[in-house]
Amino acid sequence: MNNNLLQQIEKYKIVPVVKVERAGDAGRLCEALCTGGLPVAEITFRTPAAREAISAAVKEFPQMLVGAGTIVNVEQAKMAVDAGAQFLVSPGISDKVIEYALNQNIMIFPGVCTPTEVMRIMEYGLSVGKFFPAQQYGGLSTIKALSAPFSEMRFMPTGGIGAANVKEYLAFPKIVACGGSWMVRPELIAGGRYDEIRRLTEEAVSLAGE
Ligand code: 3PG
Repeated sequence: MNNNLLQQIEKYKIVPVVKVERAGDAGRLCEALCTGGLPVAEITFRTPAAREAISAAVKEFPQMLVGAGTIVNVEQAKMAVDAGAQFLVSPGISDKVIEYALNQNIMIFPGVCTPTEVMRIMEYGLSVGKFFPAQQYGGLSTIKALSAPFSEMRFMPTGGIGAANVKEYLAFPKIVACGGSWMVRPELIAGGRYDEIRRLTEEAVSLAGE
């Protein structure tokens, strides 16, 4: 794994999970995240605009850490890497996607939420999993329970995290960062409410820093 990249993610503590319907929105969205203090985004392959949005973000915001999320097959992983994504996030475990990422030497966070899944990614030498969907699978108490047998494993919980609970997650040392869409909700992007995105981003940054 690229330790430098992981250190950057650990420094930001929060990874905005973005769903962009129109690739043309990527620029203003990234600008709002950067000015809000979070130059990092996981742009999800939940829309056909993802590839183009990643490519635009990478070109226009070279200072930003741009990853691709919701990667469920190798085709998407390739598209993401070709577009310039610096890391990949999957909601679960796909052996093919993990093997592709390892071969390309690109950081991958596969989704895990059970001991068996943690053991499966450990077999690939991975030491950080996306704990997803975090709140629905028991939240922080499940992460703490998984950390007992898997003391080397660290987590990026995502799903149901927001301003009300992010601090609690980040206080646990096995958590490298929290993922979440609360500051980049699709209706904010669709409505062009970039000031609100920046405000929520600033709030998230201040919560993470407390
Ligand atoms: C994800 O894919 O990581 C989640 O959908 C983000 O979860 P959230 O929308 O509850 O923050």
